[in-house]
Amino acid sequence: MKELQQAIEREGELLPGGVIRVERFLNHRVDTALACQMGQVFADAFREDDIDCILTVEASGIIFAMTAAIALGNVPVVIAKKGHRRNLGDDMYTADVFSFTHQTTSTIHVSKRCLPRGQRVLLIDDFLANGEALKGLLEICRQAECEAVGAGICIEKCFQPGGQLLRESGLKVVSLAMVVQQADGTLCFCEEAAESSLKGV
Ligand code: G4P
Repeated sequence: MKELQQAIEREGELLPGGVIRVERFLNHRVDTALACQMGQVFADAFREDDIDCILTVEASGIIFAMTAAIALGNVPVVIAKKGHRRNLGDDMYTADVFSFTHQTTSTIHVSKRCLPRGQRVLLIDDFLANGEALKGLLEICRQAECEAVGAGICIEKCFQPGGQLLRESGLKVVSLAMVVQQADGTLCFCEEAAESSLKGV
């Protein structure tokens, strides 16, 4: 998605280790016009998939889950919450998520009452790196006996294996910006892959 790529080029910062700072437009201060456009692109990519609800994980994924949900005609958004395993009780679906970026494990949870069995679910998140967050959301769908019909990602880091692994598993993954790391450590966009990804190939 050209507008997102331009915003990353204009406002993003590359940190050591391939971490991209996007706080000026994506996940701290939010460019709401861009967020709405991104939601529209997600909706266009998944309109034929009969989405019943969107599942995301707090915090930054919520922004794009909301704009996609509105663009899909106001489907509900279910937010997996992060926390510790204690006191979650039996009325929760839970999954452990290891964050490579933060080197921590958190338990995400969704109330059974918020994710009824049999729903067709679209997963949305801001970054896809190793795919651990999406794997956690897929595990929640499995426990809920829901069908994960695809994943919409704002920025996919193609130099980490999550996107490839999830596509190989058969999941339709649509990423609005796909970044690759060049030999000198700088990042560039994988335009061809982004085009084919937007077609859900
Ligand atoms: P994975 O789920 O694909 O395995 O990715 P990873 O564990 O590495 O990501 C963990 C957290 O780090 C996520 O946020 C993710 O959005 C964020 N993240 C990953 N790569 C980048 C990056 O290059 N730049 C930035 N700014 N963030 C990145 P989170 O901890 O869940 O926090 P939140 O921001 O959603 O609250």
